[in-house]
Amino acid sequence: DRRPTEYPVEDEPAAPPVLSRHWAEPGSWTLDNYRRHNGYRGLRAALDMAPDAVIEAVKSAGLRGRGGAGFPVGLKWSFIPQSKGDAPNPDAPPHYLVVNADESEPGTCKDMPLMLASPHALVEGAIIAAYAIRARHAFIYLRGEVVGVLRRLRQAVDEAYAAGYLGHNILGSGIDVDLVVHAGAGAYICGEETALLDSLEGRRGQPRLRPPFPAVAGLYASPTVVNNVESIASVPAILRNGIDWFRAMGTEKSPGFTLYSLSGHVNHPGQYEAPLGITLRQLLDRAGGVREGHHLKFWTPGGSSTPMLTAHHLDVPLDYEGVAEAGSMLGTKALQIFDETTCVVRAVLRWTEFYAHESCGKCTPCREGTYWLVQQLRAIESGDLDADEMSAALEVLSDVTTSIVGKSFCALGDGAGSPIVSALTYFRDEFLAHTRPGSGPDARGRCSFDP
Ligand code: NAI
Ligand code: SF4
Repeated sequence: DRRPTEYPVEDEPAAPPVLSRHWAEPGSWTLDNYRRHNGYRGLRAALDMAPDAVIEAVKSAGLRGRGGAGFPVGLKWSFIPQSKGDAPNPDAPPHYLVVNADESEPGTCKDMPLMLASPHALVEGAIIAAYAIRARHAFIYLRGEVVGVLRRLRQAVDEAYAAGYLGHNILGSGIDVDLVVHAGAGAYICGEETALLDSLEGRRGQPRLRPPFPAVAGLYASPTVVNNVESIASVPAILRNGIDWFRAMGTEKSPGFTLYSLSGHVNHPGQYEAPLGITLRQLLDRAGGVREGHHLKFWTPGGSSTPMLTAHHLDVPLDYEGVAEAGSMLGTKALQIFDETTCVVRAVLRWTEFYAHESCGKCTPCREGTYWLVQQLRAIESGDLDADEMSAALEVLSDVTTSIVGKSFCALGDGAGSPIVSALTYFRDEFLAHTRPGSGPDARGRCSFDP
């Protein structure tokens, strides 16, 4: 009998932390520790339900994708065509679950700690999702560079197989699920879901035309659900505690808990789990505030692809609707904090260099445009332009940005334009001030502009 021994059921309060509650415990990543805290009870609850009922539960809970776009998770699962009845149909075309663990958006650093500290939450969520969409095969596509995370995930998957949660006839249910952890080779574009699928199939990772979306034609041209790590890791708690428990946190349209990652000029950078709708002011309180003697200048709500906001936006609710109303996007909830000592031109240049480096080269607006954005930003930052040259450079910068945003093949192009458009909206004067003598980088290449 491979059924694991039960631990007593623990109460779970309807307040975060949920995902990160046990991260600080020694051996938090082990199966034994996970099971001590209700681990794999979500899977047992799911196996007692019909697959469609699991999809319905996740839909009703209102869980939205945590990879950046906020697409409803249960709705995405429901797109997968199903055979009639609960029994898997051996003649039905195969379909797959793919977990996107290729986290690489600048500032985004929530999925890696989650997988390091609590890999079984992801493994359990993946098994539940595979059961719900009746997928026999599931994959976790991980960034290639994070070898420590790869080892930990593989250890968790091995433990889950040994305990009978994965493989043939899981927990005596008659259901088979296999889970493969695949390490990519380290390319930002492979986080784009269709490029990820190409890479998983063994080809060069480049985006595919959408539609068809992966739910229609994904891995090996079969219906595929692609979900982010945090989205999938949030599922077991919903199955354990129910829809009302989940909906008691967050807002009506953005329910539940989530991980906010604070980095940059804060006293205590790190992961802060909170209900959706918390504000940056509240999160900064928890993170010890902006570093001593300084004040907030600008910040990103969800990584560099999301338009920057300023100190005027401290009370914006950090949920999908609140941030959109403020003119940005919640994205990956990667809150990069910059104080008044930061040169905005320098920050935008660094992000743009990243996008130019990571552009996959498939479409002209992004491949050529990101190169020209870097050239213009370098010229602006150099401090060598006079007023006329600056005005011409800003015109070219805006013109090239307009040619990229909304005209590129995938979201990378839009992301590359975001920091520039928003920086020019809030800090145009600072760009113009780079005509001041001595405002360019010093002999060691460090920014000497005094904002
Ligand atoms: P999207 O809004 O186009 O799609 C979101 C998801 O919904 C996808 O899985 C897509 O397949 C699905 N979907 C949308 N419409 C559908 C339909 N009609 N039928 C079936 N499925 C449908 O967003 P996209 O381009 O996939 O992702 C952009 C987001 O990624 C940005 O918001 C950004 O914040 C985030 N991002 C995250 C990174 C990270 O490291 N986590 C890196 C870069 C960007
Ligand atoms: Fe590739 Fe950039 Fe075009 Fe996306 S927008 S397909 S990353 S060249």
